[in-house]
Amino acid sequence: MKGALIGCGFFAENQMKAWQSLSEVEVVAVCDPDPARRKHFQTHFGVARTFAEAQILFKQCALDFVDIAAPTPAHESLIRLAADHGVAIICQKPFAGSPERAHTLIQYCLEKGVPLSIHENFRWQYAVREVIRHLRNNEIGMPFFGRISYRNGFDVYKSQPYLAQAERFIIEDLGIHVLDIARALLGDVSRLSCETNRINPDIQGEDVATMMLRHDGGATSIVDCSYATHLTPNPFPQTLIDIDGTRGSLRLTADEKIHIHTRDGCKSHEVIVDAPDWSTPPWTIIQESVVAFQTHWLECHHAGVEADTSGRDNYNTLALVDAAYEAAAHHTVMTPKRWS
Ligand SMILES: NC(=O)c1ccc[n+]([C@@H]2O[C@H](COP(=O)([O-])OP(=O)(O)OC[C@H]3O[C@@H](n4cnc5c(N)ncnc54)[C@H](O)[C@@H]3O)[C@@H](O)[C@H]2O)c1
Repeated sequence: MKGALIGCGFFAENQMKAWQSLSEVEVVAVCDPDPARRKHFQTHFGVARTFAEAQILFKQCALDFVDIAAPTPAHESLIRLAADHGVAIICQKPFAGSPERAHTLIQYCLEKGVPLSIHENFRWQYAVREVIRHLRNNEIGMPFFGRISYRNGFDVYKSQPYLAQAERFIIEDLGIHVLDIARALLGDVSRLSCETNRINPDIQGEDVATMMLRHDGGATSIVDCSYATHLTPNPFPQTLIDIDGTRGSLRLTADEKIHIHTRDGCKSHEVIVDAPDWSTPPWTIIQESVVAFQTHWLECHHAGVEADTSGRDNYNTLALVDAAYEAAAHHTVMTPKRWS
């Protein structure tokens, strides 16, 4: 599989390293308008060809796929270009910027017969995959309550300074992942309410959000995120999960353990991540999830089926983000849009 990485910024390094760990993939080119970033990728990762413009990349390279790690405003033109060239697309979150634009682009790719997947990696974290496995094994019965919680005081602005300027911050950047985990665990959402807060005075957007979701199957969940919560040890970048089911309860705790409580007592096991040899704490669980997502994407591509986090699937996550901002702005309960 010959691929190109479009956008050579902070997070693209993880995508690049993960592709290089998968033997059947070769990233033959990278594209970024910033010459220093292109040079960095060429020097550090030995990428054969670099391009400042995606138009020229597509003209000159025969590609099986592109991995778009450029910021959201660049998604529309890059996705149309890739689809016009019949090249399979992976695109970073937050995809397209709005459900309306996402809808148009998903439709465009469907018409061109080009598979579109979203790099939504949090549900591919090993601990989250383990929780999903326990639920599918019916170990706690039918879930009726969930809490999916991401709270820490990590200085996220250091590696991603643009986040301090974003008018929509934690829900769009991070909550999107946590909402996606809620969907992966408990299914699609029929109603949502949300309250937000800005604790850090030096940023533009909200850095705290608390959402309540009603899922189609009847479960309710709380999705809460904060970058203003100071804890020792700092749990960054862990997502903690509580699920209550009709026969038992599951807890994914900050000490990286899963506990299954039933009437018969509690069984616990550690969640031991198979850390990539290039991983760098505290990012290890995120970096492993990038490899897991890419491995899943390859399997789906070969099988000719959509990835779990396809454009269509991600539309419903994106719609939750949109609904959360609407709910917070108007202090109301929203019915999120749904792909149909
Ligand atoms: N999935 C995750 O866990 C995760 C984590 C961090 C960031 N992200 C996402 O990754 C994306 C990039 O974030 P980042 O922190 O790496 O940003 P960044 O600013 O460090 O990097 C973005 C790069 O894209 C380049 N770029 C801009 N327009 C381009 C275009 N039209 N064509 C090609 N390259 C272009 C920029 O020059 C820059 O080098 C964002 O959408 C962000 O939300 C995802």
